[in-house]
Amino acid sequence: MKRKWWHDKVAYQIYPKSFLDSNGDGIGDLRGIISKLDYLKSLGIDIVWLSPIYKSPFVDQGYDISDYYAIAEEFGTMEEFEELLAESKKRDMHIIMDLVINHCSDQHEWFQKALADPYGEYADFFYFRKGKNGNPPSNYRSYFGGSCWEPVPGTDLYYLHMFAKEQPDLNWENPKLLEQLYQMINWWLGKGLAGFRIDAIINIKKDLAFPDYEPDGPDGLAACWKMVESVDGVGDLLETLKKNTFQKYDAFTVAEVFNMKEDELPSFIGKDGHFSTMFDFSAHALSIGGNGWYDAPDIDFKKWRESIVNSQLKVQKCGFEANIIENHDEPRGVSRYLPNYAQNPAGTKMLGTVSVLLRGIPFIYQGQEIGMQNTKWNSVEEFNDINTKDQYQLALDAGLSEEEALYACTKMSRDNARTPMQWSDLENAGFTTKTPWLKVNDNYPKINVKNQENDPDSVLNYYRKLIGVRKSAEYKEVFTYGEFVPAYLDTESIMAYYRETDEQRILVAANFGENTAELNLDYDIRHVILSNMNQSTKPQRSLKLKSCEVIVLECEK
Ligand code: GLC
Ligand code: CA
Repeated sequence: MKRKWWHDKVAYQIYPKSFLDSNGDGIGDLRGIISKLDYLKSLGIDIVWLSPIYKSPFVDQGYDISDYYAIAEEFGTMEEFEELLAESKKRDMHIIMDLVINHCSDQHEWFQKALADPYGEYADFFYFRKGKNGNPPSNYRSYFGGSCWEPVPGTDLYYLHMFAKEQPDLNWENPKLLEQLYQMINWWLGKGLAGFRIDAIINIKKDLAFPDYEPDGPDGLAACWKMVESVDGVGDLLETLKKNTFQKYDAFTVAEVFNMKEDELPSFIGKDGHFSTMFDFSAHALSIGGNGWYDAPDIDFKKWRESIVNSQLKVQKCGFEANIIENHDEPRGVSRYLPNYAQNPAGTKMLGTVSVLLRGIPFIYQGQEIGMQNTKWNSVEEFNDINTKDQYQLALDAGLSEEEALYACTKMSRDNARTPMQWSDLENAGFTTKTPWLKVNDNYPKINVKNQENDPDSVLNYYRKLIGVRKSAEYKEVFTYGEFVPAYLDTESIMAYYRETDEQRILVAANFGENTAELNLDYDIRHVILSNMNQSTKPQRSLKLKSCEVIVLECEK
């Protein structure tokens, strides 16, 4: 395998709005991020992904971009962004930005021009189509609810939006649009950006016939991803995109891909793939409900283990995926993947260990390193997220009570990940001196960076050790390139695997059960590399693991 500069890196996702507010307007900003670069460095972070910081009306929190060349005023200035790049470079860290090019904001100049002249040049930057028999052109339901088609005022046309109606989809069949996108991407890369996290990219390929699908809900609509799954040809668009942009800069790209066809994996992330890597969402997919969040199943340990194992085995044949337990679209991993008895520092460290030592690029989401958890939401008014509001309504429409709908959103809301970062036990968790744009989790007096800095046994200091082990001279090779070999799959509660090269064999073993478990060891142990319970004596022949215990062992080879 050809080695790439990013193979052995550890990445961190910042959600700028909630990271750190430096000027007391309740909104996180670039200055806040710059002031925490040393903190990220001390955690062992190499690559920082910033969720969108472009100019935006923030209907979908910046994933609706109105100017690709401008920094949102809320976050700061272009000068500050350049300062962030320079300060990161000094620390040998790389910045990547979100690239949202399936759609833009309805406030973008292109869309405004399209509305002004619905049959003109700019209308063709979007999908403007005539309706069918008084109905929209097709029966697609957008990801955020309602029809994917919105009337173009003063005409019999509709425009397509797979997300909110304020996020019109861009027409990837139009070479003029593509030229503009390539130019913009190269402009950012030319500034010294290391690459991009690429948003919702599978959606760029449309079936231009826009066929109807079998309705799959009481609204009589069909999920728009059905079109995504049935259309071919996204690969050609992605390849041309890469050649015109990323490839020229040896940029690092991590794609958000859902609904990919199984056999496309090598062309996406294999040798000379469209992207460097893409996120592994297989575990997250386990709690996708049949109809919405209200019927989302709880995580079952064995299914969770199976999904990770299968995806590791599949991916290592061709490339690297990016491993996460949470991001800005998901509830907190600790609250989602750990049973109640394990939602404590030991369990949090255990979950972090099995995730960070997998084969692939670890992406830590802000606050994960201190074990941030889901928030208690008292009413639907406390949420900000557009998706959450839709899911709440969906639950009500399905006949659930307000209480039940709130419960579903409490478990699944994207706002769980978006509450302000908990820096200290000061008011508002030290995130802001004024009113934060989204409420702070009540548990901040207990779970915060400042407390954890002072406690050698804290989750934060454990994450430092964990990342340190992964990147250490001794183990970097095996944790980066070592094969993933699952272990103890016949047990009820053990998540375990080996990482192996010709020279080394490491066992990572964690007990997700409520009771102590005992495993027969298949190899002699050389020594203990890491333990979340400060275990330092090497086990002989058998390994006892308490509930929530994880251990990393170097075995004979
Ligand atoms: C991606 C983003 C999500 C956003 C959506 C539309 O899934 O991660 O936050 O709402 O795309 O851009
Ligand atoms: Ca601010």
